[in-house]
Amino acid sequence: MNALGKQISFHDFQHKVESFRDAVLNGLSRKPKQIPPKFFYDKTGSKLFEAILEQPEYYIPHIERALLQKHADEFAELIEPGAVWIEPGSGSCEKVQLLFERVLPAAYVPMDISGDFLQQSACYLGQQFPWLPIYAACLDFTRKMILPQGVPQGRRIVFFPGSSLGNFEPLEVQHFLVRIHRLVGKGGGLLIGVDRKKEQTVLNAAYNDAAGMTADFNLNLLSRINNELGGNFERDRFKHYAYYNDPLGRIEMHLVSLKNQQVNFCGHDFHFTEAESIHTENSYKYNPDELINLADVARFKHLKIWSDSNHYFSIYFFEAY
Ligand code: AVJ
Repeated sequence: MNALGKQISFHDFQHKVESFRDAVLNGLSRKPKQIPPKFFYDKTGSKLFEAILEQPEYYIPHIERALLQKHADEFAELIEPGAVWIEPGSGSCEKVQLLFERVLPAAYVPMDISGDFLQQSACYLGQQFPWLPIYAACLDFTRKMILPQGVPQGRRIVFFPGSSLGNFEPLEVQHFLVRIHRLVGKGGGLLIGVDRKKEQTVLNAAYNDAAGMTADFNLNLLSRINNELGGNFERDRFKHYAYYNDPLGRIEMHLVSLKNQQVNFCGHDFHFTEAESIHTENSYKYNPDELINLADVARFKHLKIWSDSNHYFSIYFFEAY
């Protein structure tokens, strides 16, 4: 533990994080080549993701922010003051701030894989909400979610906005929800924002923004390999490719090799044929009936759903039973 002052504590569980080196060596040895999306989020990647959130085509944060603001009083009715709010993959902690004044938590536990970014966000948050105890946990929530020592009692609420759930395979969603159930216990809550199936043109545009931020974010993975693993990737020999895979109900992101080429890092050579890709992300889209079924299997009962008028995106409140 590393005290940043009385109000904010920082807990580093990074030793639980799978090493970037192992994941990339392993992922690029597979066929098809792949790297898990959690490795997008180095310091530069986290900043690029913040830029994606501002793109007009990427409708998710805009709709979600509006829903959070519009329905804050309803959340406050369902979630009384004194709860412990836990946010896996908290990033900038920007969305949850829209609720704090209304729901009055006893404590907030942001969890993020990017340590620098987490510290920075927690400090900034602490300035905005001096009455709120913050227990920042640096960890990889896809592996283990640990509550830091000293977190107060109170109903536990997991806040999981932004359709982060879409990164999991549907089967992994089950396991993840069971782990959340264990974390919050019976009577605990899950307030979750999940993107829905919709016209493909809208989906494709959201992951191919005109300003090229999503492309930069995707290609940053190659820079990260160069910087941290001594790689010799040339970014302009790859291109960003994202499309909606309709039968599987997911956006896929790839880095596609523009030519036959060989790349080296960590003493290993990797060959790419022209048009061969590294699969870097899946983003599954769920309609409400699909999500409610998945949650029910993990013993979460559905209490309420809020949606925008286009039915692009929904926020759900579930209670563990
Ligand atoms: C953070 C997983 C919700 O899939 O929409 C955004 C990540 N990737 N643009 C998503 C992302 C490219 C995002 N999630």
